[in-house]
Amino acid sequence: MAQAAGDNPRWLAEGRGHLWLPYTQMKTAPEPLPVVSAEGVRLRLADGTELVDGIASWWTVAHGYRHPHIEQAVKRQLETLPHVMLGGLAHEPAATLAARLAKMLPGDLDHVFFSESGSVSVEIALKMAVQYWLNKGERRTRFLSFTGGYHGDTFVTMSVCDPEEGMHTMFRGVVPEQLIADLPTDDETAARLDALLETHGHAIAAVVVEPLVQGAGGMKFHDAETLRRLRAACDRYGILLIFDEIFVGFARTGLGMFACAAAGVLPDIITLSKALTGGTLPLAATVARARVFDAFWDDDPLKALMHGPTYMGNALACAAANASLDLFEREDRLGQAQRIERQLSAELEPARGLPGVRDVRALGGIGVIELSHLGDAAWLKQRFRELGVWLRPFGTILYTTPPLTIGEGDLRHLTGALVTVAGEWSDRFGKGE
Ligand SMILES: Cc1ncc(COP(=O)(O)O)c(C=O)c1O
Repeated sequence: MAQAAGDNPRWLAEGRGHLWLPYTQMKTAPEPLPVVSAEGVRLRLADGTELVDGIASWWTVAHGYRHPHIEQAVKRQLETLPHVMLGGLAHEPAATLAARLAKMLPGDLDHVFFSESGSVSVEIALKMAVQYWLNKGERRTRFLSFTGGYHGDTFVTMSVCDPEEGMHTMFRGVVPEQLIADLPTDDETAARLDALLETHGHAIAAVVVEPLVQGAGGMKFHDAETLRRLRAACDRYGILLIFDEIFVGFARTGLGMFACAAAGVLPDIITLSKALTGGTLPLAATVARARVFDAFWDDDPLKALMHGPTYMGNALACAAANASLDLFEREDRLGQAQRIERQLSAELEPARGLPGVRDVRALGGIGVIELSHLGDAAWLKQRFRELGVWLRPFGTILYTTPPLTIGEGDLRHLTGALVTVAGEWSDRFGKGE
């Protein structure tokens, strides 16, 4: 077992051999950084070092860490009802949150089913789609998703991730095989999608897509027209359309509070998580339109949605989410995302044209420097840390998705680190590409 470094706290030395970390080769990975507290956009490490968090804890911390409004709401809830099962019971934070989400979302996306993680909310959306068809007397068991897509790490969500480029390639042939297409970004890809649907449309329960930005698959952007093509194709073949807005929801794109509203395209089911509680507690929602819900509305108990996570609609998490929605309503997160985009666009620009830099792009609170190849992943992470920022590239994608509340100076610290590291990387590894 690796020993903890000298100045690491005892809890890390004692727990390190037992704590199995995500996406981590435990044998070779460096020590995780011991975080003891967080405030605003900063993480504080055990040795007193502060890092500006450019990832916002995997895109959850929209309002900054320890926002007092969310903290107070959770504390209040803790004193009355931290949790109660939703089977046969209901509580105020869940009912209020469901009603508020229905009001915020466009169209008749009105029926909210809670769970505890993004992957599970997508899993529920897929299961809901299959049961929608079963309840209507049709057996449709397949899904169609897209290259570059990421929808989670559970079994069926793995099957709708990009099978070649994603992180689940070793599970090919193990997870159910789905139909994977390129996004219909132009006439040619739209025609290919149409041909696929012509052959398989009758067997497809739902199409699932991350609208406007494919996040974990490489921070790739597409336009509203792509989503309009998808909606039209689904309508032609009577297929349900699922928007996975776990990353893009809640103003991240700067184009609207939700990608569906910004694009003017209404999905049949939407999944939300991450910024829903402002990064305070785990919570996710699968929200269905009336026509989906109506397929479950019956005298037959077997037509009920057969799902029910133990912790669904946890009262503390719902209280945090209601407080997070207060902040989205009261404070101009959308304007902040737009301001972040302007600053990212200007300040990341110097990296464009560096040898080995393939692209520089920004949208809302998402900034990317894309490299042509990896070079040395450990070196990249180490350099960011030395420059006082917490950034964790996806392979060749150096990116930041800071809290939307980040100030100009802290954002400059992040963009400065990104451009500096891209420049150093280019000198070391970028030549000859
Ligand atoms: C678009 C999208 N869908 C689903 C997920 C899975 O969410 P979770 O990690 O909470 O299971 C993620 C997580 O990054 C995501 O970005």
